[in-house]
Amino acid sequence: MHPVQHRAVLLLPRGEDHRPFPRGHRPAGAKRQGSRVQGAEGPRGMKKGRIPPTPTRNSDSDFFSSDPRPLGPFYSRLRPANGQLMIQTLATVIRNEMIAPGYGRVALACGEGLSRARPGQFVMLGFTDAIDPLLRRPFSIHRLLAGEAEAHGIEVLYKVVGHATRRLSRVSTGEALSLLGPLGRGFQVPPGVKRLSCVAGGFGIAPFVFLAEWLQGRPSAPAVTEIFLGGRSQDDLLCTADFERLGIPVRLTTDDGSCGEQCRVTDPFAAALERERPDLVLACGPKAMLACVLGIVRAHRIPCQLSIEAMMACGMGACLGCAVEGRRDPSRFLHACVDGPVFDAEEIDLG
Ligand SMILES: Cc1cc2nc3c(=O)[nH]c(=O)nc-3n(C[C@H](O)[C@H](O)[C@H](O)COP(=O)(O)OP(=O)(O)OC[C@H]3O[C@@H](n4cnc5c(N)ncnc54)[C@H](O)[C@@H]3O)c2cc1C
Ligand code: FES
Repeated sequence: MHPVQHRAVLLLPRGEDHRPFPRGHRPAGAKRQGSRVQGAEGPRGMKKGRIPPTPTRNSDSDFFSSDPRPLGPFYSRLRPANGQLMIQTLATVIRNEMIAPGYGRVALACGEGLSRARPGQFVMLGFTDAIDPLLRRPFSIHRLLAGEAEAHGIEVLYKVVGHATRRLSRVSTGEALSLLGPLGRGFQVPPGVKRLSCVAGGFGIAPFVFLAEWLQGRPSAPAVTEIFLGGRSQDDLLCTADFERLGIPVRLTTDDGSCGEQCRVTDPFAAALERERPDLVLACGPKAMLACVLGIVRAHRIPCQLSIEAMMACGMGACLGCAVEGRRDPSRFLHACVDGPVFDAEEIDLG
């Protein structure tokens, strides 16, 4: 068998007859070109004897659709462990601006494929014009762009910490970035929740702008009651104007006292719990802050969800590099990219 034909056969669903035609029966009109057989439809419209087409890089391609027809059996099998729908696309930079020393915000046009994203989910962003950095990097979805004046897409808030984020800070309008998303499990606000408190450290504030805007667009959804935002100094306290616009009070803290109270962000949060108890707490930030929030909410027996950060190479459950020890079943590792990044506080231990 020709190697090309052999590879195509391996990609076909199990249990089906993978031979192009029963021996000695070739339908009228079917031609043989070399060892490739053409002119006959295979299962689900795929041409037998041919490698399924690779999706074009500059189009929205539903990689993990539950309906295998658009891309054939090959892509329908490439399903991340949480079975969610995601797209791979080239996103066009609409604008990219530095909003504080060391922090930027980039707006990306990427079609309507991201409109199903939920607060707390993330995207993997990469560069198309060089192989270094090779791997895409994970970023929370900061805002959905769906206004009439703006193209459909997303905004990402980033802190410049290394190679990829430095490059991201230099991309200009019209440039293309490789985007995979929406990925992971976002925040889940169950029915009945009326009071919602959020705790954020540094760029951990990124998903809460999306959350606040998303909840405001839903009349029956709860409003965010209060946001506790901490940073090393004033420059790390981002997006306060966004919450002001949405009418959400923000309690600010800094380590150096340059803005807000000089204390850890968990101090005013713990004090507020003594006065009024929220129905749900959501937190996103450095691990030490999350561990502290976890201790406080467990002591008060308040439901809580934590968005954690882990090193991610693939973002879709393939490399197993983002393993997190599960609390319910310590013998089973969870993976931040598909089981998270948002976890119920009862699901994980932060050490
Ligand atoms: C689910 C998720 C959502 C994220 N959302 C955002 C966001 O909204 N905005 C933002 O600025 N960043 C976010 N991050 C972190 C971001 O992915 C890293 O800062 C980025 O990958 C760094 O790439 P780099 O090449 O610039 O840095 P590198 O050169 O790769 O690393 C520079 C430094 O950053 C550390 N670092 C790299 N990746 C991570 C990581 N994933 N977690 C913790 N430390 C890391 C390295 O240890 C090193 O010290 C998120 C990470 C995850 C997992
Ligand atoms: S990043 Fe590859 S499995 Fe999670």
